[in-house]
Amino acid sequence: MTDFKQKLAEQISKAVNLPENEIYEYIEVPSDEKMGDFSFPCFKLAKELKKAPQIIAEEIKEKIKFEEQIVQKVEVVNGYLNFYVEPLAFITNVLNEISEKSENYGKSTIGNGKNIVIDYSAPNIAKPFHIGHLRSTVIGNAIYKIYKFLGYNCIGVNHLGDYGTQFGKLIEGYKLWGKEYNIEENPIDELTKIYVRINNLCKEDETVLESCRNNFKKLEDKDPECLELWTKFRELSLKEFQKVYDLLQVTFDSWNGEAFYSDKMPEVVDILKQKNLLKPSEGALVVDLSEKNMPPCIIEKTNGSTTYATRDLAAILYRARNYDFDKALYITSYEQILHFKQIFEVAKYLNLDEKYTQNLVHIPFGMIQLKSGKMSTREGNVIKLEDLLNEAISRVNEIINEKNPNLENKEEIAKKIGIGAVIFNDLYNSRIKDEIFDWDTMLNFNGETGPYMQYIYVRTKSLLEKAGYIPKLEQVNFENLQDEASLKVIKLLYNFQDILLQSAEKYEPYILARYLINLAQSFSSFYNENKIILDDKSIQDARLYLTYSVGLVLKTGASLLGIQMPDRM
Ligand code: ARG
Repeated sequence: MTDFKQKLAEQISKAVNLPENEIYEYIEVPSDEKMGDFSFPCFKLAKELKKAPQIIAEEIKEKIKFEEQIVQKVEVVNGYLNFYVEPLAFITNVLNEISEKSENYGKSTIGNGKNIVIDYSAPNIAKPFHIGHLRSTVIGNAIYKIYKFLGYNCIGVNHLGDYGTQFGKLIEGYKLWGKEYNIEENPIDELTKIYVRINNLCKEDETVLESCRNNFKKLEDKDPECLELWTKFRELSLKEFQKVYDLLQVTFDSWNGEAFYSDKMPEVVDILKQKNLLKPSEGALVVDLSEKNMPPCIIEKTNGSTTYATRDLAAILYRARNYDFDKALYITSYEQILHFKQIFEVAKYLNLDEKYTQNLVHIPFGMIQLKSGKMSTREGNVIKLEDLLNEAISRVNEIINEKNPNLENKEEIAKKIGIGAVIFNDLYNSRIKDEIFDWDTMLNFNGETGPYMQYIYVRTKSLLEKAGYIPKLEQVNFENLQDEASLKVIKLLYNFQDILLQSAEKYEPYILARYLINLAQSFSSFYNENKIILDDKSIQDARLYLTYSVGLVLKTGASLLGIQMPDRM
């Protein structure tokens, strides 16, 4: 497909005698169509060229020439050069490319040969997979899919919280009262009860707390009884978590959780010791980070046991060596910003190449709030993700029963819509914003929602079905698509890959989510203004082809967000 930006950059670069790639970076796609299809802000050159932006713009306009019929007009407005692409050039380009690539339209090879480790989801064993982990799972999964589509080799890691002193407590509680609880039947709930109970006992009785600490120490030393119980808790929990992953259709390349690093931590401790960086502090061993204005990073606790941070440091070593990553991404709530700042700082001391330590990226996200307030993660009243997803499905089921009771395959469709609604709601805003969780908003079929996007997709399907065919590109006369509504849709289709690149670069799936809504809405206007099935076969073919193209891009885009499209609804 012709890269119009590239063509413009070539010409502007010649006119001002500056490198093409610099110019390319400056070219924007204006959000307001009245400012053209591409726009070049001349302010950025004012300093370098020692001239007023308006003058630079006028001069460029005089000098540039385009060989092919690609630019219709160029305007100078307030120091901007606004370019209007020849509509037929847009139409021909986009539709040819879509016809050639179909499901692969938008794909790139830009990431070929680059490895990206993505650490996401990471629930904690023996604790509920709560709604807070939903965000990590959904955002991580979208980033994984987008990067992969852009040609990167992605390694998705579920860094399970399957280690730490809480396991010492669980083991103690289970030994004391295990028989009273049916952990096979209902592992997470029952283990949580044991955990709460033993915690209370620990508060009353110092000796119990001591045994708990001992258990963890024994676990670290591979004591068979402790190890067996730990394995049991882990397996039962994973089976529960799998139900959620199945509903969301999320998979991982590695399930190496914190415990995986138990035998890899001594190396971290040794390196830091050798460099004389481990300082005693109230009985613990810490790396002082005061020069970086951060609290110390605790490497070993008072009782000699390791920490969450130590395991993350060992994981960095492991990932650098085994995955040779170009980037390692970590997706967690903003509550862990400091933790990652600390370990990324300490990682610089681990004798790793800068290529690794410079490319550790924490990707924080905001909390989920119910319309009625914050959702607790620590104390009680936790909302379980599995229940929540099932509720989404049953709510959609109700809507279907009311509006379209005879729909075939209702269950399957309700699942795609319900789950899709939850995922879309999670991805529709910049990730750092707190997410408001409200059923009515996310299930509104006319809102900026997953169901709306799916509804428009289904509409493209049913139009093609009604016509009974998908036209061949050769049948399409591009001249028939020059009206405003059609052009708007085509320009959006043209931008698809650019949107994916932006989403990847900023680690922001919302850029893609908003684009898809924009595309769906533009299609809806196109459809309202233009009859699609009509007597004039030539016009019908062109409009049907555009309909087909929109459906294709909506489906590809949705799948990159982790959302499936129903064929009818
Ligand atoms: N298990 C942690 C939690 O629930 C998240 C782990 C994130 N990944 C990491 N490498 N620290 O908060």
